[in-house]
Amino acid sequence: MTRMADDQRAQRALLRARQEALAAEEDDRRLEERRQRWLREGMHLTSAEVAAGEPCRGCGEPLLDGIGDWYPLNQLSPADQAEYDRAEARFLERHRACRSHRWSLSGHRVTHCGYCCPPTPLSDRQIERFERHFDEHGFGMWAVERRDAPGCIGRMGLLVATFPALFTPCVEIGWMLAAEHWGLGLATEGAREVLRYGFGILALDEIFSFTAVANARSRRVMEKIGLRHNPADDFDHPNLPDGHPLRRHVLYRSRREEWLRDSDT
Ligand SMILES: CC(C)(COP(=O)(O)OP(=O)(O)OC[C@H]1O[C@@H](n2cnc3c(N)ncnc32)[C@H](O)[C@@H]1OP(=O)(O)O)[C@@H](O)C(=O)NCCC(=O)NCCS
Repeated sequence: MTRMADDQRAQRALLRARQEALAAEEDDRRLEERRQRWLREGMHLTSAEVAAGEPCRGCGEPLLDGIGDWYPLNQLSPADQAEYDRAEARFLERHRACRSHRWSLSGHRVTHCGYCCPPTPLSDRQIERFERHFDEHGFGMWAVERRDAPGCIGRMGLLVATFPALFTPCVEIGWMLAAEHWGLGLATEGAREVLRYGFGILALDEIFSFTAVANARSRRVMEKIGLRHNPADDFDHPNLPDGHPLRRHVLYRSRREEWLRDSDT
């Protein structure tokens, strides 16, 4: 009887793994199609277009609604939580098949999908926040440019993470690139330089990185730059509500002595 149950469990796990792998392949294929369309049709908005109230060129929703930020999700009042849940339900209704993460521009409460919607430029508030971080800590998020073409294609750098968790406060390495530049090794190349700066120049003792369990690309970058993952460190992100599909996070880390040992510099 127990044996049967074990076999059934193993079969179900195998089926689930197959379904997840097929879904990931399908996501990659669809994302590549989008990426090509964005490139062909010049979907990206400039900061000036966002400020002038142009709607998102992916889903057509407004980018700025003037209502202001959500508070951190763990600090929402019951009324705000109810409004948040309604906004989330509306979002899921529009983006039923995306299976992608969400993002929102600082200064508004409209959510957009990192799958259907081309990335927007940083808002003034986000830029201010990054600049304040540089003033306070002497390091932060840098703009990323390709050597072979002018213009910002994303951001990458080191941030102090302070949300409540067993490993915080800590220094986190993070990255985000516009989708048409994915898959070229650029995140890995940049992240290696960020690590060199963090351990070599700032002499940090330890650098962390974390992401939602399903963010396979980001996890792969973490692995390629030598960060290590211990499943015992996985955690629920306190800024995402119970039941949120991205709440479960993996934690990767590297200590300075490990980086010195493994790097050939
Ligand atoms: C994460 C991100 C920066 C990666 O950028 P990138 O330039 O494509 O990264 P790289 O090309 O250096 O490496 C990507 C790796 O992921 C692999 N990869 C791509 N899709 C994958 C998938 N579905 N499953 C597993 N690995 C995948 C690539 O094959 C490559 O590994 P390889 O060199 O061993 O082949 C980019 O996807 C991004 O900006 N994503 C949105 C923002 C984000 O998620 N940021 C992290 C939040 S924690």
